[in-house]
Amino acid sequence: MDIFQKCFAFDRAMIAKKEGYYPYFSPISFNKHGRSIIGNREVIMIGSNNYLGLTDNLRVIAVAKDAIDVYGSSCSGSRFLNGNLDLHLELEEKLAKFMNKEAALVFSTGYQTNLGTISALVGRNDIVIIDKDAHASIVDGCRLSFGDLKRYKHNDLDDLRRVMQSCEEDKGKLVVTDGVFSMGGDLAPLPEIVKICKEYSARLMVDDAHSIGVMGKNGRGTAEHFDVENDVDIIMCTFSKSFAGLGGFIVGSKQVVEYIQHVSRPLIFSASMPPAVVATVLKTLEIIINEPERREKLWNISNFMLDGFKSLGFNTGNSVTPIIPIEIGEDMDCFYFWHDLYKAGVFANAVISPAVQQGQAMIRTSYMATHEKSDMEKVLEIFADIGKKKGIIH
Ligand SMILES: Cc1ncc(COP(=O)(O)O)c(C=O)c1O
Repeated sequence: MDIFQKCFAFDRAMIAKKEGYYPYFSPISFNKHGRSIIGNREVIMIGSNNYLGLTDNLRVIAVAKDAIDVYGSSCSGSRFLNGNLDLHLELEEKLAKFMNKEAALVFSTGYQTNLGTISALVGRNDIVIIDKDAHASIVDGCRLSFGDLKRYKHNDLDDLRRVMQSCEEDKGKLVVTDGVFSMGGDLAPLPEIVKICKEYSARLMVDDAHSIGVMGKNGRGTAEHFDVENDVDIIMCTFSKSFAGLGGFIVGSKQVVEYIQHVSRPLIFSASMPPAVVATVLKTLEIIINEPERREKLWNISNFMLDGFKSLGFNTGNSVTPIIPIEIGEDMDCFYFWHDLYKAGVFANAVISPAVQQGQAMIRTSYMATHEKSDMEKVLEIFADIGKKKGIIH
């Protein structure tokens, strides 16, 4: 049996490309202020996680360029050995201070942050308990660990309790949940999850990839939003969204962070965040702290869009954040909807199974503080047209 046989038999992507509705790996040649050029077409970008619109901020770009002048383009190694810049340490110190936790640790991607944190903590005699809709990087972190993995139904507290009851008392337990779910844009009920964790002596880790810079009075994420910051043991975030960079971090107690730092394979056996990106994140952290008006603008745009979609009759699920899913149904209908949007000058994301359940394919939209209101009105008009044409709204 040729191990490549599965590749030769794989034709789904090729068929979609030939028929002209392939929505993935789109070549972007320009990005600025919520607009992009994709395949020679200028589009309004509502498929990005650049929530605060900082990727093209001139102050951010300037510090990234300066860092390259001083440190070069790459760290050329792991933080463990030759790739640990004073900038990485400065960033960790400032993140810990911002998040009101003892210590922080930065990784080269958000994906690696979950991989490296969960696999370091969950050993042979431990159990990790996650939501059924947990992000893939959480699932993969569990797979990389040697412990048992248990899952509970999405945001279902009774089911979480049932799973907790099935865990042996003498085993270490870690519950991991997204703070904001990346596809549905809904929130985990953190106060209730905290309560259950305490009852069963489990530790709690929250992936706040979509929340830091976005949620909470000071932008510290869902734990701040729900006023449970002292009850969440580890908060994780990525730098690829509000922070306009690449990488990720955890914050927690000093001893736990120090342990992870010395045993986490995705941290130790991978090169560190490059200088320009660390400098970028240092600047965007400063902006997140000092310019709350950007968060306010993001929420104004997001609430405008959520109200707009709802009043047109679209199903936006349980979203209460700048991630607004538009439920379409079947995968093929979603591809065709995506294609019509693109042709009309709007770029969003087509999300099909297994990222969501079969029959619940969606167009995932997300918003930026730098989106123009006139562009957003245009997006709503285009959605209304296509939605009516396709019989999704009436
Ligand atoms: C909830 C969540 N966690 C982790 C990640 C991984 O982050 P990154 O893409 O920055 O590696 C993502 C990004 O898609 C995410 O949405």
